[in-house]
Amino acid sequence: MHDPHHRPRKAVRPGRRQRQAVYAGTGLLLLSGLLWLLAHYALPLPEDAARHPLETWAMRVHGAATLFGMAVLGGLWGPHVLRAWAGARHRLSGVSLLGLWLGLALSGYGLYYVADEGFRSAVSALHVVAGGGLPLAFAIHLLAAASSRRKAA
Ligand code: HEM
Ligand code: HEM
Repeated sequence: MHDPHHRPRKAVRPGRRQRQAVYAGTGLLLLSGLLWLLAHYALPLPEDAARHPLETWAMRVHGAATLFGMAVLGGLWGPHVLRAWAGARHRLSGVSLLGLWLGLALSGYGLYYVADEGFRSAVSALHVVAGGGLPLAFAIHLLAAASSRRKAA
């Protein structure tokens, strides 16, 4: 009988291109987010500018990286997330990572449309904290995958 909980391990590992796409998306989101923080909070304003030009550019890249990241996440959904969930390995680190992606997408969406000043800054703080957690959760998930691959080898 075919047992859905006994899939070959290889079947859930994202392919090389897909892994590269996840690295690129995560890296771009993180880098552009950090550049925005730097420009917004640390860099001196150029004369008679309301905001630092780097801030504008960082959000242009961040917005594009969001579109890319969401497409990558969509590509992982069936072949990776759902299948890996059924296989019951690395569920905790996987779900934490997934939760962060969804929370970042939701709070990022909020940043576009929340008008109330106080609420917006709360959403912004939440987004930045979750953003800081993203590389951490991703690293834990990758290390978990690498160590169980080593054990299996
Ligand atoms: C319920 C959620 C998830 C579960 C249960 C899960 C489970 C797993 C498992 C079991 C592996 C090891 C595959 C193997 O080597 O055989 C893995 C690897 C991986 N996961 Fe997930 N995952 C989840 C969500 C995610 C999400 C949301 C992302 C990215 C946005 C992601 C990205 C990756 C990547 C890139 C690898 C490959 C690591 C490597 O081999 O270098 N996973 N995951
Ligand atoms: C799944 C990952 C992420 C998604 C979907 C996402 C999405 C978004 C969106 C849609 C915005 C609003 C863009 C705008 O106002 O033009 C935004 C803003 C921002 N994001 Fe992200 N982001 C992600 C990850 C990150 C990470 C890793 C960081 C790093 C700290 C970060 C830092 C920021 C910052 C600083 C802002 C500007 C906040 C503000 O306007 O007050 N984001 N993000």
